Amino acid sequence: MDRKEFLSQLGIGAAGLVLFGCMGGCEKESVPASPSNVNLTIDLTSTTYSKLLTPGQFAYTGNGIIVAQTTSGDYIAVSQYCTHEGVTVVFESTKNDFYCSAHNSRFNTSGAVQSGPAGSALKQYTVTKNGNTLTIKG
Ligand code: FES
Repeated sequence: MDRKEFLSQLGIGAAGLVLFGCMGGCEKESVPASPSNVNLTIDLTSTTYSKLLTPGQFAYTGNGIIVAQTTSGDYIAVSQYCTHEGVTVVFESTKNDFYCSAHNSRFNTSGAVQSGPAGSALKQYTVTKNGNTLTIKG
């Protein structure tokens, strides 16, 4: 008896097999849109963002963007939503990259995919520093 005959005897056709196989796991989460037309300033002396004065630290802006200071002292910002299923990423100072713990995707400091399952980059924003003010645009 081959597989098709076996499933047929159980009363499960190909459609039933697909449905059965997807129970509890085939729905793809929707990924929130990356913020656009961003023009945001951050005060690095505020309690919310003062940790960004330390290399390797990161913060969320509250509108879907994660900003970090790399271990080499550059300020970077990308969409906080993983392009796989929209889970919020973190900045990992030990690897100097963005990481999504949901399924282990990694993105470099420009937002490009380093390892999947994410298949596209995080949107990158430009960050300029003037004194203790960061301006994020994109
Ligand atoms: S949601 Fe980020 S890797 Fe799956």
